[in-house]
Amino acid sequence: MPAAMTSSERAVRDRVDDAAGDGFRFDPFDVATRRDPYAVFARARRQHPVFPHAGFPVVSVFRYADVQRILKDPTTWSNNFTIPGIDPELMPDPSMLGLDPPRHTRLRGLVNQAFTPRIVQGLETRMHAIAAELVAAAVERAEVDLVEALTYPLPVIVIAEIIGVPPEDRDRFKHWSDVAVEGLGYGLFVPPTRERLQRLNAVREEMDAYFSVLADERRRRPREDLLTGLVQAELEGSHLTHAEMLRMLILLLVAGNETTTNLIGNAVLALLDHPDALARLRAERALLPSAVDEVMRWSSPVQMDPRRATRALELHGHSIDADQLVVCWLGSANRDEDVFPDGERFDVARTDNRHLAFGFGPHYCLGANLARLEAQVALAALLDRTRAFERIDDAPLPLHPSIVFRGVTALPLRLHPR
Ligand code: HEM
Repeated sequence: MPAAMTSSERAVRDRVDDAAGDGFRFDPFDVATRRDPYAVFARARRQHPVFPHAGFPVVSVFRYADVQRILKDPTTWSNNFTIPGIDPELMPDPSMLGLDPPRHTRLRGLVNQAFTPRIVQGLETRMHAIAAELVAAAVERAEVDLVEALTYPLPVIVIAEIIGVPPEDRDRFKHWSDVAVEGLGYGLFVPPTRERLQRLNAVREEMDAYFSVLADERRRRPREDLLTGLVQAELEGSHLTHAEMLRMLILLLVAGNETTTNLIGNAVLALLDHPDALARLRAERALLPSAVDEVMRWSSPVQMDPRRATRALELHGHSIDADQLVVCWLGSANRDEDVFPDGERFDVARTDNRHLAFGFGPHYCLGANLARLEAQVALAALLDRTRAFERIDDAPLPLHPSIVFRGVTALPLRLHPR
C-alpha cells in the first residue's frame, strides 16, 4: 500500500474492490493486482470491457479498440475535468495535458516549435556519454540500486539539459516530481485531502518562482535551449503567456521523469525474467528499438489514461452519463489479443507494435521519441559494460506509489563487468 495513503483513502480502497455479481473483481489499488494485473485485464477484456466501480465516479475500460476510440475523440472525451469534491479555489490552472482543442491545439503547436526532433537527435551523443558514465560508476560499485544509479538520473539530467536548467538542481526536481505524482490516480476515486492539495500548490509555487527567474534570464540572454525556445515561441502571432509557459515547463519536467525511469526499470526487469530475450539482445543490438517498444507494450510505464464524457452515451450496454470519469487501461489495451498476436508473450523482435503506451490522438506523448532513445541508450550502456546482471535477492520490489504508473522505486542489482 502506498505510504501516502490516508485512512479515508484506505476505506475507499477497501470499497473499490468491488464484485460485479459474477465473482469478477478489479481493485486497481490492490498490491497483488498492481504487481500482476494481466490475468484480471484478460478477463475484463472478455467479460467486462466496461466496468463501473460501484460507489465511485469512475468507469474502467479495457479493450484496445475502445481505448483507442476514446483517446482520439476529444469532443466526446475531454481531458479537462475537475475532480469531484475538490475546492475549485485549490485547483491550479491545467497544463496543456488538461486542456481540449482548440486551447490544447494552440499550446501543442507552440511547444512543438520549441521541442523539435532536431533537439532530441542533437542530444544522442551526449546521452550516450551520460549513460556510459552512470553505468561505469555503477559497475565499479558492483552492487547498486539501479534506480538510484541509472534509471532516475539519466532522464532527469537529459530533460534538465534540454530545458536548460542546471543539472545540479536535480534533487529539487526529484522532490517536485515526487510530490506532483504521489497521489496521481487516487484523486479520481477519492477527493484529495485539503492538506495534499496545499502541499501540491506549495510545490507549484516553488516551481513557478524557480522557472520565472530562469525565464527572465533567457529573455535577457537567449541560449540554445528549450527555455529560450519557449520564451520566443510564436505561432500565428500568439505568444505563450508567462503562466502558460510556467505550466508547460512544469509539465515537461514532471511528465518525462517518472515515466522514463519506469520504462528503463521495467525493461531491465522484463529482460531478467526472460533470459533468452536478454541473450538475444546482447547478440543482436539492432533489436534494441523493437525491444524498447515491446517493454512499452508489455509492461507499460503509464497504465491508465482518464477522460471525462462530455455527453451521455452508451458503451457495451452500459449507460455513461455526461461528466462521467472513464479510465482507459493502457496496460490492458496493450495486451489485447485482437490486436497483438500472442499478446501475453514478451517478444523483443515483435513487429507492427501499435501499442497505446504513449497515448493516442491529440495528446499523444510529446516526449515519445526522447523516451525511446533514452531507454535504448541506457540498455546499450548496460549491455556494453556488463557480461551479466542479476537481482541481489528475491525480496518484492517497492512499487511506485501512484496507480497511474507501473514501475519500482528501487531495483538492487549485482553487476558483473565485462
Ligand atoms: C516512457 C516514457 C513516457 C511515457 C510512458 C509517456 C506517456 C504519456 C502518455 C500516455 C501521454 C498521453 C496522456 C493523455 O492521453 O492524456 C503523454 C503525454 C505527454 N508526455 Fe509523455 N510519456 C513518456 C515520456 C515523456 C517525456 C520524456 C516527455 C518530455 C519531454 C513527455 C512529455 C509529455 C507531454 C508534454 C505530454 C502531453 C501532451 C499533450 O497534452 O499534448 N513524456 N505521455
